[in-house]
Amino acid sequence: MKLLVMNGVNLNLTGKREKGVYGTATLEEINAQITAFCKANGDQVDFFQSNIEGELVNKLHEAFLNRAYDGIVLNAGAFTHYSYALRDAIAAIDIPVAEAHMSNVHAREEFRHTSVLSEVCKGVVCGFGAGSYLAAIVGLKH
Ligand code: DQA
Repeated sequence: MKLLVMNGVNLNLTGKREKGVYGTATLEEINAQITAFCKANGDQVDFFQSNIEGELVNKLHEAFLNRAYDGIVLNAGAFTHYSYALRDAIAAIDIPVAEAHMSNVHAREEFRHTSVLSEVCKGVVCGFGAGSYLAAIVGLKH
């Protein structure tokens, strides 16, 4: 399977911000774990991170138009809670998208309990730290 793991706003600071919530592993270290996991399962994986909503939308379009991936894992960060632009982009493409969050968003502030993306995603994983990305990949493979 060819997979794309996308991270949105503020996730470039993973391992450096709110360590009690998101842990101490950097995004680069998490991506290395994901790469090793995918390699062991015979899958290929690419990564994309942006703090800019439109760049994430463009990447989803590009993945769709180039028929580049069989599945996408998306941790949109705070965009999850209000980005109708990302929601429409996910709805526009026929590649299955798995929503992932490192923290358990349902055990946190009220505003994090709402995702405007979940309805158009294939599935949702949250609360397992870096393991959320791996679980989302397992879900997409099934
Ligand atoms: C997050 C949860 C979001 O609510 C938050 O805005 C993030 C990270 C997570 O991975 O737990 O930036 O998506």
